[in-house]
Amino acid sequence: MSPTETPRAVPTPGERRTRYVIVGTGNRCQMYIEAILGEHADVAELVALADTNPGRVEYYTDVIEQTHGATIGSFDPAELAAYVRGNGIDAVVITTPDFTHADLVCTALEAGADAIVEKPLTTTAVQARRIAETVERTGRRVTVTFNYRYSPRNTALKAALLEGAVGEVTSIDFSWMLDTVHGADYFRRWHRVKENSGGLLVHKSSHHFDLVNWWLDDAPDRVYAAGGLRFYGAENAAARGVDPGAGRGTRDGSDADPFALDLRSDARLAGLYLENEHHDGYRRDLNVFSEGITIEDNLALTVGYARGAVLSYSLNAHSPWEGYRVAVNGTEGRLELEVVERAAVLPAAGGSPVDPSVTEDGQDGRVRSRGERLVLHRHWEEARELEIVNGEGSHGGGDRLLLADLFRGPGLDPFRRPAGLADGVAAIAVGIAGNESLATRLPVSIADLGLDRLAVPAAASVAAR
Ligand SMILES: NC(=O)c1ccc[n+]([C@@H]2O[C@H](COP(=O)([O-])OP(=O)(O)OC[C@H]3O[C@@H](n4cnc5c(N)ncnc54)[C@H](O)[C@@H]3O)[C@@H](O)[C@H]2O)c1
Repeated sequence: MSPTETPRAVPTPGERRTRYVIVGTGNRCQMYIEAILGEHADVAELVALADTNPGRVEYYTDVIEQTHGATIGSFDPAELAAYVRGNGIDAVVITTPDFTHADLVCTALEAGADAIVEKPLTTTAVQARRIAETVERTGRRVTVTFNYRYSPRNTALKAALLEGAVGEVTSIDFSWMLDTVHGADYFRRWHRVKENSGGLLVHKSSHHFDLVNWWLDDAPDRVYAAGGLRFYGAENAAARGVDPGAGRGTRDGSDADPFALDLRSDARLAGLYLENEHHDGYRRDLNVFSEGITIEDNLALTVGYARGAVLSYSLNAHSPWEGYRVAVNGTEGRLELEVVERAAVLPAAGGSPVDPSVTEDGQDGRVRSRGERLVLHRHWEEARELEIVNGEGSHGGGDRLLLADLFRGPGLDPFRRPAGLADGVAAIAVGIAGNESLATRLPVSIADLGLDRLAVPAAASVAAR
């Protein structure tokens, strides 16, 4: 199944380009900077960058000057509204920590711009309702950048469901494994505090819940969750007799520690974070076994959907391998997607951990290898593998497709990948309800959070844009 390039309008010469600012110049903003200054420069213009940390803005303005020969402006993010109004800004790209999204989205909308915001839309039901109310009042648009939809394997699963490959979906089993490289990273910085990120159920799983909402084209209805912090954190380390020094940045002298992140070993990490700590005290490499972690690292959920399907979901953030497994049961059969993104984490002398299964031809003969496989098993038939057609670039070419939709307009996408406000709310609604369920030990209804009306995906209206 092809991820398909959707037909789009071609700009006419002299047409005014859409004017963007980007707020939040950490790691994530790079993708947007490159897209605006690169492939989409004929339709998009990057006017300025803003961040509470002036050092990180300077890092990017320098890089842009060196690599693109362009001089980009900057402003104080506290002055966002005035900057938008005074400089004819059409859209604000928001790549700041999750807990700041709602204020920035609402400020952008009130000032007359659209907002393009990284997932998660926000971290609480109150803020989600506030964003929805602001959209309604201002008539501006919010786009949540759910890049996982654009991964060809996830689109291939969507395509198979649209073709009715398993009939009506009755249930989904979904397990996500974050390994001791990627998973650990959420315990090193702002994500580790629940108020900042909503925990992994909101920060990370909103990607996964969005996929399920989109695959099913249905709205989540009720959630029961269980989970806790069982591996990272000071208490767990002490209980297992783990060296309390494990997990520190190597500047603290723990070179042999597989949980240490050496910011000095990566010029980009050093330039963005280490060299700018003096501005705001933001530590990118906190000890994953230190005090102060208030998020979970093991989570399990049951989610009921409006049309009757049920989701069983689990997340583990200290797995020895990274990837996911999805099984979709339907009235006519079962679809299974298995993805191995990193087959093992093996410490490498003086560098980042290596994945031993990454070979040129992918044929390494190991028990677990990097790769992806989508299998359809219909009742009364042999199982067969469905083709996944990857494109060029990161995430199997998915990021390129997402950026084209964002900056050139979505066109008529048969898979309905562009995500709007309702999709953003539906994705966090599951995680927010899950957090409530963790706190109360009871099932939680999305309606009780006041998010049910807001979380219904608008398939027809998005496709018609
Ligand atoms: N879709 C994905 O796959 C994906 C991947 C990574 C990150 N993200 C999202 O991108 C966002 C940023 O993540 P990151 O890893 O780049 O974080 P980061 O901490 O590296 O960068 C965030 C930046 O925002 C700045 N900032 C903080 N508060 C601000 C404010 N009020 N106004 C302006 N700037 C502020 C910080 O100084 C920092 O430079 C998060 O919401 C995250 O969920 C998405």
